[in-house]
Amino acid sequence: MKILLGVTGGIAAYKALELCRLFVKAGHEVQVVMTQHAKQFIGPLSFQALSGRPVRDALFNAEQEAGMGHIELARWADWIVLAPASANTLAKLRMGLADNLLTTLLLASDRPCLLVPAMNRLMWQNAATQENVAVLQARGYHLLAPAEGVQACGEVGAGRMPEAQQIFADWQARSTAAAYPALHAFWQGRRLLVSAGPTFEDLDPVRFLGNRSSGKMGFAIAQQAQALGAHVTLIAGPVSLPSPQGVQRIDVRSAQQMLDAVQHHYAQHSVFISAAAVADFAVAQALPQKIKKQAGQKHLSLELIANPDIVAWVAQQSPKPFVVGFAAETEQLLPYARAKRERKNLDLICANQVGAGIGFEGDDNQLVLISREQERTLPMSSKHQQALGVLQEIMHLLTQ
Ligand SMILES: Cc1cc2nc3c(=O)[nH]c(=O)nc-3n(C[C@H](O)[C@H](O)[C@H](O)COP(=O)(O)O)c2cc1C
Repeated sequence: MKILLGVTGGIAAYKALELCRLFVKAGHEVQVVMTQHAKQFIGPLSFQALSGRPVRDALFNAEQEAGMGHIELARWADWIVLAPASANTLAKLRMGLADNLLTTLLLASDRPCLLVPAMNRLMWQNAATQENVAVLQARGYHLLAPAEGVQACGEVGAGRMPEAQQIFADWQARSTAAAYPALHAFWQGRRLLVSAGPTFEDLDPVRFLGNRSSGKMGFAIAQQAQALGAHVTLIAGPVSLPSPQGVQRIDVRSAQQMLDAVQHHYAQHSVFISAAAVADFAVAQALPQKIKKQAGQKHLSLELIANPDIVAWVAQQSPKPFVVGFAAETEQLLPYARAKRERKNLDLICANQVGAGIGFEGDDNQLVLISREQERTLPMSSKHQQALGVLQEIMHLLTQ
């Protein structure tokens, strides 16, 4: 895809470098357009090196106009992403001002545009900014609202630009929704419950049994579904991932806590996707004090007991949601996955080869989707793309 990345004069302009890199890494063409004030914060050369294209910054430049003028630039782009979008540029955009290259091409464009405002919290809260953003959203601009937190100016509140990874994921989900209208129509308003990440089973106050699940797959599903219009509740084990915007997140630690959360929420959802890697066993009795090694001790035995089987529990309920499980295996992937689907009465299982360099921790994945009727292998791709494949499969199975 061709992405025009507009960068304005805000302290968060440095984060746009990483965003540019992520777009390029994902195979997109990027043309950066900077305002004059943006260049006070960061040099165009870095963007040029990352995007492989000279940065455009001048409205009146005979050389540049001869190549791609502002109209040509506006036509070139499939998407426009404005990150950071300053209060000033937002105000100009709302008013239809066209006094530099960026605002002129924005006025001359009918392409989808994602605004990522970033500013001091009072600038963001100001009625003028809020009104400008509301008007722009009503006109069809996409908005990724600023995050809360400590700001560069030392104040605390809403105004921070989300991290590049989050902006990229948000854009990816929105562009998908625009590109797959049928999928969007299917998921719009549907209630989806997703579990993600590992569970930690405590041995004592400082040690636990865990696993290598990063939570990326479940978070990607939650994010894509939310972007497609679903109401998503995400039950997350201990992971270090930011919450996808608009998703209700519930953090848990152990399998028992995850079961409690699922039992509390499943009935309000029509689809349950169990992407969490729930520990099969927990320690029979977690100790209240740290386990001490005795002098000369060579062995330590731990008694483990089976954890509740969360996905099987949901699949046994009546009425039950449409239930999707995951099978992460290091060997005999398909036979194990097929047997697991049948044994647990799942509507769909996503078989997932795990091991060195594949599966849990990476950004890419390859799932085999196994239902009662059919098996489909998705091509190796990003977890966001795999998530889309899972959501498509659910649509096919529920509408056929
Ligand atoms: C150090 C410094 C930091 C600034 N940070 C921001 C910011 O984060 N967000 C914002 O909207 N404006 C910020 N401003 C103000 C803008 O740079 C100013 O409004 C400018 O006119 C924006 O121009 P542009 O929209 O054409 O890029 C900052 C100004 C300075 C001096």
